[in-house]
Amino acid sequence: MNKLNRNDACWCGSGLKYKKCHMDQDLYLEKLSHQVGYEIPRDIIKSSEDIEGIRKASALTREILDMVEEKICAGISTEEVNKWVHEYTVAKGAYPAPLGYHGYPKSTCVSLNDVVCHGIPNENTIIKDGDIVNVDVTCILDGYYGDSNRTFMIGSVSDKARDLVETAKECLRRGIEEVKPFNTLGDIGFVINEYATSKGYSVVYDFGGHGIGNEFHEDPFVPHIGERGEGMILLPGMTFTIEPMINEGVPEVEIWEDEWTAVTADGKLSAQWEHTILVTENGYEILT
Ligand code: MF3
Ligand code: CO
Ligand code: CO
Repeated sequence: MNKLNRNDACWCGSGLKYKKCHMDQDLYLEKLSHQVGYEIPRDIIKSSEDIEGIRKASALTREILDMVEEKICAGISTEEVNKWVHEYTVAKGAYPAPLGYHGYPKSTCVSLNDVVCHGIPNENTIIKDGDIVNVDVTCILDGYYGDSNRTFMIGSVSDKARDLVETAKECLRRGIEEVKPFNTLGDIGFVINEYATSKGYSVVYDFGGHGIGNEFHEDPFVPHIGERGEGMILLPGMTFTIEPMINEGVPEVEIWEDEWTAVTADGKLSAQWEHTILVTENGYEILT
């Protein structure tokens, strides 16, 4: 990239002089790149304006999940949940990101029991007492994305199902605790995998978290397994999801012919929790 002078027009096309626009941010990135020893891609560190946008979209995502949490119960179809999410999202002036995403047909993902993720809501799948049900909500507000999911326990669930759901939640919590500048993505995956396997469960490796901002799935890929100190270094201003999928049995998944629904290869249970996270100067902020 050619170096701009302070008084040149900024590269972003704003029409402002470089010094009044992206110069400080570029200098900051240059300093960080020097510290970590590789060129940090510009899009991975968000501006304060972008962070504000992601924060608002994430707050709405949380609100939608709170609404679902209040209403979800045995006896309704997964299509009903989709309807709630869709209507609430558009009523708030936002758009449900899954709808039309690479051809995905619905506004949210609802994944029951052995469905690992990307369950497609429909009239025929009825939520029953004892089910564990993941609802994954992503909304686009003013061009910014927020992405989060929770696994709900419906009525009286078995002890083993409850333990799996609580373990997946604890995996997310432990992963988030690793988020601070100069830790790595590998640290996050390491603690998640360590805790899940200590409980006799396995971690899905075919799917991971992801950078998020003006797009649904941005770089980096965030694996939920890993080694300490490996992978990308975390820096203030990065925004990404952590969303471990924890399986009762084997970690392998199979995809149905609908090309979306991912199920455990052995038919055993799977649970997941997801948050959108911001790396701050001294740690993290959970945006959802
Ligand atoms: N919300 C999911 C995630 O956490 C992605 C769903 S993609 C969809 O990354 F198309 F199925 F909606
Ligand atoms: Co996600
Ligand atoms: Co999601």
